[in-house]
Amino acid sequence: MDNNEIIKLLNIDFKGELEATMLYTYNAFVIDDCEISRLTEGIAADEMRHMWWLAELITKRGGRPSMEIGKIEYMEEDVKRALKVQIQKETEGIEEYEKHIRLIDDEEVVGVLKHIIDEEKRHRKEFKEKLEKLG
Ligand SMILES: [Fe+2]
Ligand SMILES: [Fe+2]
Repeated sequence: MDNNEIIKLLNIDFKGELEATMLYTYNAFVIDDCEISRLTEGIAADEMRHMWWLAELITKRGGRPSMEIGKIEYMEEDVKRALKVQIQKETEGIEEYEKHIRLIDDEEVVGVLKHIIDEEKRHRKEFKEKLEKLG
């Protein structure tokens, strides 16, 4: 796989991280439950850090991060619904990263993506625990 193809896949990942950063940042602003809001805020910062890691891989290979975003389902009234959307976002990210790890044969990129997957799995677990506590 050449650098252009790697950059294309990394930009798909970058888009997901940008969307997660925006979703969690906004949701942290409007969620009343203090614990859930603080958790979501902290995880938003993790997602932004993932953006930095991916942007570094992209620019190092001659690309530019796309800054493109898709549709984001921001929190409305229901905090349980918001947590479900956040859990779904993590699952989609994990699946996309796993797919890219199978396709990309660049050791540095694969190392970073594996590290990110570990963090996304922790995020998903933490959101699930909060959702279960709400019953
Ligand atoms: Fe992330
Ligand atoms: Fe995450």
